[in-house]
Amino acid sequence: MIESTARTSSVSGLLAEIADIGTDSARGGYSRPVYSAAELELREWFIAAARARSLDIEQDRNGIIWAWWNPARLPLTDAVVTGSHLDSVPGGGAFDGPLGVASALAAIDSLQAGSVVPERPLALAVFPEEEGSRYGLACLGSQLMTGAVTPQRAAALTDADGTTFADLAARNGLDPAGLGRDDERLSQIGCFVELHVEQGRGLIDQGRAIAIGSSILGHGRWRLSFSGQGNHAGTTLMDRRRDPMLAAAATVLDVRRLGRAVDGARATVGKLDPIPGGSNVIASRVDVWLDVRHSDDVVVAALVADIAAVAREHAGAEGCSMTLTEASMSPRVDFHPGLRGRLSDILPDAPILPTGAGHDAGVLKEEIPTAMLFVRNPTGISHSPEEYVEDPDADAGGDALATVLANLLTQP
Ligand code: GLV
Ligand code: MN
Ligand code: MN
Repeated sequence: MIESTARTSSVSGLLAEIADIGTDSARGGYSRPVYSAAELELREWFIAAARARSLDIEQDRNGIIWAWWNPARLPLTDAVVTGSHLDSVPGGGAFDGPLGVASALAAIDSLQAGSVVPERPLALAVFPEEEGSRYGLACLGSQLMTGAVTPQRAAALTDADGTTFADLAARNGLDPAGLGRDDERLSQIGCFVELHVEQGRGLIDQGRAIAIGSSILGHGRWRLSFSGQGNHAGTTLMDRRRDPMLAAAATVLDVRRLGRAVDGARATVGKLDPIPGGSNVIASRVDVWLDVRHSDDVVVAALVADIAAVAREHAGAEGCSMTLTEASMSPRVDFHPGLRGRLSDILPDAPILPTGAGHDAGVLKEEIPTAMLFVRNPTGISHSPEEYVEDPDADAGGDALATVLANLLTQP
């Protein structure tokens, strides 16, 4: 007999519990960088919610939280995993990440209330630094777990305040020497299903609430560092300057021009760091952060090369130099056809949609079958406070996830 706590929660009710955590009055929306006070509070909320559901909690050596539902104490093998992340972009919305975590908790409630007898263990997982907002490297937790990022590289990453990831990890109870590929955990997982707010307009256009993910664009981040001569804004004559801001500005416009010229490409500069960054100072260096995405990784590489070539020309024209550094590159992902097909059988009305957004499910796909569910976002806007999900759609997502999990836990 499976013990049942018979708790039921609505996804919107769970999200309401965390609505005040990490609000950002300056930017609007939420700023919940990994291991910030806000993200730590969210982790505590998740752990308490998991405990209240009699789940067994552990934080692994990469900082991923696992909450196991394994009432029959089955061997930890072929486990079904669901979950998402709790960190956010600066000034992000309420749903990117937390919707998948809240839906996982709501799904557990309906599995427990429905007396589902799992034949495989189930884990709810919360991945750290999915957005890469603090250390520049997206999906850092899952990339460490799979070994896609080496522990040495992760440990040396530095945030805007100069704190290394190794120091931050140690401060949060992790052993920096323990970071890295986790064969034991990977061998325990049979599949991963991540529910996520849709970050585009696919479901709006189709008039549906829930979709199944098909693929993720290849995407990456690059830093273009323009170096010139820092100097005084008042005393340096206009024709005696080596101002990297001008090369950076010209490059930003060319990112749009070159990105538009490639069918299906997305090319974005969302962050500029002028150094030292004073209003009466000609910058000595400007770092331009470039995000490029396309369904074909070769096209991504070619577009970045074209952007780098014009950036070098702009730098030369201003008496500056430019160096290009790849911060991350995530190849195109096609989710596991068998698992995706199974989700389609379980949810026959759900359309199949690709996405341009990166996810831990995309990283884990290299190791285990993964799939995604998307929930309609009526604004079609994401990475912004305007990201939104209607309560009935959030609950439909939680129900769809519970239906999928019940099937995966009980059918071969
Ligand atoms: C994360 O949401 C990304 O796509 O960058
Ligand atoms: Mn996300
Ligand atoms: Mn995101």
